Amino acid sequence: MMKVATVVNSKGGVGKTTLTANVGAELARRGRRVLLLDLDYQASLTHSLYRPAEIERQIDRRTIADWYMAVGRRGSGPDLMRYVSWPEEVRAHTRRSGGELAIVASAPKLEGVAARLGVELGNPSSRRYQDRHRQVVMRLAEGLRSLRREGFDYVLIDCRPDFEILTRSAIVASEGVVVPAQPERLATFGIRHLTEKLADFKKKNFEILGWSPASENRLEELAPTFLGVVFTRVRHGGGVPGPIPSSQQIIAEVRHLFPTFNAMMRENVDFQAGVDRLLPAAFGLRPDIAAEIQALVDEFESRIGS
Ligand SMILES: Nc1ncnc2c1ncn2[C@@H]1O[C@H](COP(=O)(O)OP(=O)(O)O)[C@@H](O)[C@H]1O
Ligand SMILES: [Mg+2]
Repeated sequence: MMKVATVVNSKGGVGKTTLTANVGAELARRGRRVLLLDLDYQASLTHSLYRPAEIERQIDRRTIADWYMAVGRRGSGPDLMRYVSWPEEVRAHTRRSGGELAIVASAPKLEGVAARLGVELGNPSSRRYQDRHRQVVMRLAEGLRSLRREGFDYVLIDCRPDFEILTRSAIVASEGVVVPAQPERLATFGIRHLTEKLADFKKKNFEILGWSPASENRLEELAPTFLGVVFTRVRHGGGVPGPIPSSQQIIAEVRHLFPTFNAMMRENVDFQAGVDRLLPAAFGLRPDIAAEIQALVDEFESRIGS
């Protein structure tokens, strides 16, 4: 069964896009059929898999922005599958395993689409807000539902560093939410803020959909599940094995407070190099770093369930 996961953090530069690309790549390397969905109008994920010329030639009118524009207000329109493309560099690396790494690309025009969706949704105090919320925020979930018969194992959604309408649309379309974070001072503060926002949004959203749980403490049973924090860009060194001492302290603190993946992604130049080569680093990492990504993906698959 297809599982959808969204990668969220209100902070930029923490490694969301890098994690999305590399978890996707590792899943595909082991034979899973993976669809990446780029919901950021800066389109870093798209640009980490395609050259600008290819984007212009192959996917210029098949981005998620184009899908939103084609669906329009009536909420019905072309199948999202028509907006899926298969990056060339990646294909050679997944052929042998039978896996697949496809993408629904993004483009700067998604910014205008997001603004328009906001206008469509209108004011929470308006009488028709509930209906509009259903139509606007659930639109992506419905688009993804149509993909359920296409044989994808996972959809990974990469979001902007915000909690705006597209990010919220991704969350309601998901079975799980992953929160990448850097083990730095204030990490605990940021993660707490985000998890509170997530819980609050989940509650409001399911009330609007009429799915509220019988009691407050059953809220956790409703999708999406908070799969956990993943530490990213973790620096190693400082004369000790593993993360540098100041990071270790923060990691321990966060682990104590929030669901946290055991596996982490370390800071390594290969991840940046992968972006330059249009091939996620996970397709050819040095063994110790590859082992970290493999452990992360093992954990991801077991946390999201199959
Ligand atoms: N584990 C890592 N090691 C080295 N560089 C990384 C790592 N993760 C991310 N980066 C780099 O940091 C920058 C921001 O990462 P990105 O994944 O785009 O963050 P976000 O999507 O959260 O804004 C990029 O230049 C990226 O290549
Ligand atoms: Mg990003």
